[in-house]
Amino acid sequence: MTLGSPRLHLRVTESTNDRARELAAAGAAHGTLVTAGRQTAGRGRQGRAWVAPEGAALLCSLVLRSFDELLPLRAGLAVADLAGGRVKWPNDVWVEGRKVAGILAEGRPQEGWVVLGIGVNVEPVDFPEELAGRATTLGRPGEVEAVLRELLDALEERLAEPAGDTLRALRERDALRGRRVRWAGGEGTAAGISDDGGLLVELDGGAETVLAAGEVHLVIGD
Ligand code: BTN
Repeated sequence: MTLGSPRLHLRVTESTNDRARELAAAGAAHGTLVTAGRQTAGRGRQGRAWVAPEGAALLCSLVLRSFDELLPLRAGLAVADLAGGRVKWPNDVWVEGRKVAGILAEGRPQEGWVVLGIGVNVEPVDFPEELAGRATTLGRPGEVEAVLRELLDALEERLAEPAGDTLRALRERDALRGRRVRWAGGEGTAAGISDDGGLLVELDGGAETVLAAGEVHLVIGD
């Protein structure tokens, strides 16, 4: 499996995920990579925008034709490997409690492809006040390309390893375990990651439930 070849680099594009989706729908090979220096309509999960200063972040999308249900978590773990961080279920990577990277996996699994979009804040940046307490960077000036290479290496390993190894590593680096979480349907205390990649939550009465990534918008408490 070779991730990152062929590669299309764009100085500016709306969203690398959109370009990669077009390529995937047209038959692009597994591992095809789209990167950009800047996005004019970068997308996050649940309709949110993803904004990053030009050249300061790694903005990339991979076409994958071989994947499993743990894909977004495997990707989060790969980023956590290089960042020395933790995975915040389902799609973020935190360093010291602040978000350094986000993951947006989307596509047509029934047609055999998924686009794995990853944004990593690489260079030091002065975040606006409203983001400063929640966002961080790797603090690596001029190293977007180096981080891309590290990410591709980490992804090669994490996407290929047995699910049990991924789950074990995720459970060790689970940023939410023990934290209060709230969603439209209830609240409780995060209690780990289920075997199929859901979030286990202990409800206040003691019962346990499992949240599926696509279904919930989590609000995190203490
Ligand atoms: C999130 O945190 O909600 C996910 C953010 C994903 C951002 C990346 S940047 C590269 C790729 N292109 C996009 O438009 N989004 C993803």
